[in-house]
Parts: sequence; structure tokens; C-alpha cells
Amino acid sequence: MANTNKPSGLGRLFIRKSVEQMHAEHEHGELKKTLGPINLVLLGIGCIIGTGIFVLTGRAAAEFAGPGIMISFVITGTLCALVALSYAELASAIPVSGSAYSYSYASMGEIVAWVMGLLLVLEYGLAASTVAVGWSGYTVSLLADLGIHIPAALTAAPGVPVLDHDTGQQIAVGIVNLPAIIGLIAVTCLLVVGISESALVNNIVVFIKVGVVIAFIVIGASYVNTDLWSPLIPEQIPAPPPGTDMSIWAQIGRALGGVLTGADTGQYGVPGLITGAATIFFAYIGFEAVSTAGAESKNPGRDMPIGILGSLIICTILYILTCAVLVGIVPYQQLNNPAPIALAVDQIGLPWFAFVVKLGAFAGLSSVMLVLLYGQTRIFYTMAKDGLIPKVFANVHPKLKTPWINTILVGLLAMGFGGFMSLDSLANLTNVGTLAAFSIVCLTVIYLRFARPKMNRPFKTPLFPITPLLGALMCIFLLLSLMAHDETRNFFLVYLAGGFVLYFAYGMWNSKLAKGEVVTGVEQPNPVQPNQ
Ligand code: ALA
Repeated sequence: MANTNKPSGLGRLFIRKSVEQMHAEHEHGELKKTLGPINLVLLGIGCIIGTGIFVLTGRAAAEFAGPGIMISFVITGTLCALVALSYAELASAIPVSGSAYSYSYASMGEIVAWVMGLLLVLEYGLAASTVAVGWSGYTVSLLADLGIHIPAALTAAPGVPVLDHDTGQQIAVGIVNLPAIIGLIAVTCLLVVGISESALVNNIVVFIKVGVVIAFIVIGASYVNTDLWSPLIPEQIPAPPPGTDMSIWAQIGRALGGVLTGADTGQYGVPGLITGAATIFFAYIGFEAVSTAGAESKNPGRDMPIGILGSLIICTILYILTCAVLVGIVPYQQLNNPAPIALAVDQIGLPWFAFVVKLGAFAGLSSVMLVLLYGQTRIFYTMAKDGLIPKVFANVHPKLKTPWINTILVGLLAMGFGGFMSLDSLANLTNVGTLAAFSIVCLTVIYLRFARPKMNRPFKTPLFPITPLLGALMCIFLLLSLMAHDETRNFFLVYLAGGFVLYFAYGMWNSKLAKGEVVTGVEQPNPVQPNQ
């Protein structure tokens, strides 16, 4: 299985694992093939419904899209459906546990796999911090209902205004987001001792949060004031004059017809719909997590597409209905609140139900945090097994059977981000990384169709090449709209540059594939997998 064909020069950067090699590696893995289609759909829903719908929707409606947030959800849902078809094709053809990282290694080569690894750190690691901040908002509100008040300055990142949950007025400026750090400490400890999610716990949590969302839609529907839906797309707030303090990216956007505008200029109007769509993209992240369970699926050729597409379709319908009810109950200008759904329920005079919503969000967001952090540790584990990052990340505790050092380091990193960065910055960075990863996945489908036309593909993306091409283009389009935001763009570019330096300083010299060593990165350290 070792790679005997060692290219040199530029070709070295694009050295590939063969698809057969991946299949062989994973056949020798210790993972049990226990997951059926329903488990996979529930796994997807478990990861999708979280901070996006429970928190970000409110801000996206208040600041960018107005009641048009419903259209933003349709736009992003369409984009994700196109990407999901690509994931479904790859996950059914290459059912391995490394997901997008493995697909890149098997197609476009090591350097692309490395970039994918970097992007997945944003998609999973940073996403866990983002969810922790959303979790913090609901937890603080829940505790306040129980008479426990945490000092406001300790509930938000430095410099971030803290808003009152009832009035939306600013009551303090943050110093540190302590609840987010505590939540991440708890999740890190659970992962170190090996209490990953069991099928039962995951399924119960999914039913609780889906139940809360459906109850909100059904109960809320009778309180909707359809007058609040119009104007569906409020008039655009004019952008500053061209040239002056707009970034070059925002100016390019304006030149393209004013659609690609920066976050600070994309308020209402069509640009607001697009910025809203890019912001709530976070709400959809998670359907692709189904593909990480490829190696444990009983019948991946049939069930992977069902899991990926099924969870996405169910969540898209729930999301659009939730938005319709939310902006039909609360005037969109008032929705910039850390717990907007609870606010809506309060407004219709059902405080007991607001408490239930907060409890549901608390449980639901806890599980999303756990699954995302878990995913991040396993991506690092796989990369360490491949030799691309230090061996310590693959170090498994002899008794606990978990990659404990890896987990603690990932947890600390997530705490650093979750405790000291704002929800907006974190969500934007996660969105940028994930959109970039999604576009590479779509391009991988196109690449493999030409490079390996005879590969067995139990599921084929319909309307090839239009679907993956359109998926990649839409991802790049939304990515550019987020890159118009200076902080996001600078962080992302510096992060990628740093990642390349690391590859040329370490990964390239230690890659097991390049050294011709057999890679045995298949046995997972903790046999307990989500939904097992
Ligand atoms: N989609 C997940 C959430 O909204 C990551 O929390």
C-alpha cells in the first residue's frame, strides 16, 4: 500500500493517495459498520441545527436582510443543496472517515489536502467556538430566569457590547465570555475521558431541538402578523461614496453591480439579502459532517446520499418556516438579540414556552459543540497519522483510548477564540473557511469525473457538470461577499499564509506518503462514534 512512485519537484506537492489505497486502509480500520440511513439523517440534523438558527438569524434579519431573511435562507439552502450533491457523490464513492481532507488527498494531491485541512480547522474548530458563544447567550438567559445573574461584562468578548435580553439595550461592554469558556472546558473534558455521543443521547437531543423548533413554528404561526412581512426587502441603506473608506474588495463588489458589498454596506435591499445569506450560511454547516461517518456506514453507496441530502432538506424547510414566524412576530429591527427565538416567544406572552426554548437551545447547542470539537480532534488525528502534523496529535491515552493531548490542545484553542472573539467575527471566519472547503469539494467532483471516469460511483450528481460548477461558483460568490469585511479577509489570508509556511517547514518533510511509508491512519482512537 505504500506509495512507491515518488515524484519530485512541483509534482511532489501534488502527490496522491490512490482511492484503492484509501479503501484498503479503511478496510483494516477498527470502526464498526453500524450506521443506517435514519441514524445518518439524525447525525446530520444533530450537527446542523444550532447557533445559526437560534442566534444568528435574528442579527441577520435586523442588520442585513429584514423580513427578506426568508429569501436569504432559500439562497443559502440552494447553494448547500448543490454542494450536498457533490458530497453525496464523493461520500458514496470514497466512504472514509477523513471526509473532505481524504477526498482531496485522493484526487488533487497533498498540498490541496493540506489546504483542506487548514480550512477544516475553521469549519470544525472555530465553528465549535462560534457555537460556544451562542450557547453562552442562551445559558446566561436561562440562568437569569432561574434567578442566577452572571455579571454582564463576563458574558462577552473584550469590547463587545452586551445587550439586555428583554429590551435589546446595551447594558455593559464585555471583558471575557466566561460561560463560553466553561462550556468548552466541559466538552473538552467529556471528549478526553471518552464520553463521546452515544446513539441514544444524540437521538434524544435531536428530538428535543427539532421538537422545540416545530413547536415554535406551530404555536407561533397563529400569532404571526403578516403586515410585519412587508416590505419583504426593506430599502437599501446607501453605502458610503465610492473610493473613500471602502476596501478594494468592496469596490470590486460595487463594480460588479453593487451585489457584492461589505458587511457594513450590505444593509437591506438585494445586497442585504446576499450578506444575510452569507451570514446565515453558518446555520447550514453540519450536513457534510455525515460524510465523516463514511467508514461506519452499513451501505454507504445508498445511505450517504440519503443522510446528507435528507438532513439538509429537513433543516431547510424548518429554517424557512422558523424565519417566517420569527419576522412575523417581532419587528425585524428588534431582532438583534442573543436569544431571538426566546424573545419572540416572550413577546407572544408565553414565558413558560420561552423557558422550554432556552432549555432546548441549551441541550441542542451543547451537542453541536461536542460533535464539532470531536470532528476537529479526529481531523488532526488523521493528519498526524499521515505525518503532516506532529505525532503528538495521534497520541492515544493508554487507558482512556482517546487522543487526549490533541483534544486538550484543540479545546484550549477553541476556548481562546470563544472567550475573546465576538460571535460575528467567529461566524464570518467559520463561514469563509467552510465556503472555501465546499468549493474545493465541488471542484474535486469535476476533477475526478475526468481523472477517474471509471471509478465506481454508486451516487452520481445529476446534471453534471452544471451542479458542481454552480455550487463552486455560488460558494466563491458568497465567500467574496464576506471577504469584503477587512477583519475577516486579513485574518483568513494571514491564516492561510501561516499554514503554507507550516507545510513547507514541517508537513512536506514528514509526510508518510512521500516517504513511502505505509499509512495506518485508520483506526480511530475512541471506538465510540456519534450515533453508534
Ligand atoms: N449549523 C450549526 C449551527 O448553526 C453549526 O450551530
